[in-house]
Amino acid sequence: MSVLLQMTGIVKEFPGVRALDGVDLDVRAGEVHCLLGQNGAGKSTLIKVLSGFHQPDAGTITWEGEPAPLSTPAKAIERGVGTIYQELDLVPHLDVAENIFLGHEVSVGGFTQRGRAHQQARELLDRLGHPEISPTRVVGDLSPAKQQIVSMARALSRDTRLLILDEPSAVLDQGEVENLFRVIHDLTRDGVAVIYISHRLEEIRQIGDRITVLKDGRTVATGLAVQETPTAELIRLMTGRSIEYVFPPRPDTALDRGAAVLEVRDLALAGVFTGVDLTVHAGEIVGFAGLVGAGRSEIIETVYGARRATGGTVTVDGKRLRRGSVAAAVRAGVGLAPEERKSQGLLLDQAVYANITVSSMSRFARLGFLDRGEERRQSQELTSSLDVRPDGVTRAVRTLSGGNQQKVVLARWLMRDCRVLLLDEPTRGVDVGARSEIYQLIRSLADRGVAVVVVSSEIEEVLGLADRVLVVREGVVVHESAATAIDEAEVLDLVMEGKVPA
Ligand SMILES: Nc1ncnc2c1ncn2[C@@H]1O[C@H](COP(=O)(O)OP(=O)(O)OP(=O)(O)O)[C@@H](O)[C@H]1O
Ligand SMILES: [Mg+2]
Repeated sequence: MSVLLQMTGIVKEFPGVRALDGVDLDVRAGEVHCLLGQNGAGKSTLIKVLSGFHQPDAGTITWEGEPAPLSTPAKAIERGVGTIYQELDLVPHLDVAENIFLGHEVSVGGFTQRGRAHQQARELLDRLGHPEISPTRVVGDLSPAKQQIVSMARALSRDTRLLILDEPSAVLDQGEVENLFRVIHDLTRDGVAVIYISHRLEEIRQIGDRITVLKDGRTVATGLAVQETPTAELIRLMTGRSIEYVFPPRPDTALDRGAAVLEVRDLALAGVFTGVDLTVHAGEIVGFAGLVGAGRSEIIETVYGARRATGGTVTVDGKRLRRGSVAAAVRAGVGLAPEERKSQGLLLDQAVYANITVSSMSRFARLGFLDRGEERRQSQELTSSLDVRPDGVTRAVRTLSGGNQQKVVLARWLMRDCRVLLLDEPTRGVDVGARSEIYQLIRSLADRGVAVVVVSSEIEEVLGLADRVLVVREGVVVHESAATAIDEAEVLDLVMEGKVPA
């Protein structure tokens, strides 16, 4: 396979941070090259250099053996670099077709142009396995998973020779990941090179050809053959230590169960889910498994009052909550860490500590003044245990890497004294090193008597973390049991029933 791209000694500095400190990477036509590294290692920065989004402070880039500065996004696109960013960069108020062809409008003059664009958008979306996405739909109304498909369609609408995917699977469920892999296979067969970033090592095994590992802005290994590199070795390269990937032990809740805190009866949201019954005791973690779109997020959002139930009841500590009222839920001690944290909660230009304490201000009020010292101290304690990097709570959240931003929002909810904590995809985008810590924190909240509900697309996570598991399919709870009473294959069967993965 011929070398398409070569990066040598790439350096990129931000004020106070050397994000890239001499990175080497070569990518061959037709391969899937995986980029691994902990949160903040420099992966997104590297691909932004490659996309012409950031200018490197030092280093060289060659494209098919020729120097290629890639000095602007337009130049990179011209070369054939197509990028699916970690933070999707679509224009929310434009429709699907407009987003796909933005900047290179289908070049046929006159009034036929719009029709042409729609038709081509239709073909691209079909090719990606998504006939249900309409080219005329406003992008801002689509789920993150579907927005990503639109981004893919946009990359494929051009002559892309290198497709870069920055944690695409973070917004996808298992079925959609299979679909994505099928698309990647088709592309590489045609000689397209792919750079693939993910924190899920089993995906790397499935799709990757070679691996480059970054640590603290440096290449610690490059061009490793996936088949010849054991997972333990990858983890050691990424973290500098060997990590036992463990879930915290479960207390014997079957025998010593606290009082029922959250009780949901026959809850329904017309057209989305029906007949949901759920009881969560103090000290218990209940996990929801299912496909994206099965209704799991909608269920917990309805419990939280962010959606107005069309039937059924939610009670917390015996008190019935008013339908569709977040204020009532919050007063009763319910917290929700939403799936889409970026848009639903972070104050990007504010300091880390301000983001963490924003929902717990009363805790820091002293005689009408805010105890800033205490606010920072408690924030620091949480960010240290979550291993937020770079360390320090006065930094603006915008300057943190994707995974570290996730940890900050999670910290906000861990800081608040909740009776019921609803967590949607709590480890999305978080690296292997920090996951165990997050699991530990969630378990310790439960041990303090909080009733916890976790939604996750990773079956292993639901089974490993939760005491009890509910499987949701097309808006109906199709299974409930102790987490230890069911295995991954059985959950997958339940989740997928009636759906043949592509
Ligand atoms: N615009 C910026 N200003 C200041 N620092 C930044 C900026 N963008 C990134 N950084 C810093 O550069 C380093 C690398 O960040 P990067 O986003 O590349 O990490 P990553 O490997 O993609 O991590 P993740 O897995 O969390 O997405 C981090 O320390 C981050 O805080
Ligand atoms: Mg990143």
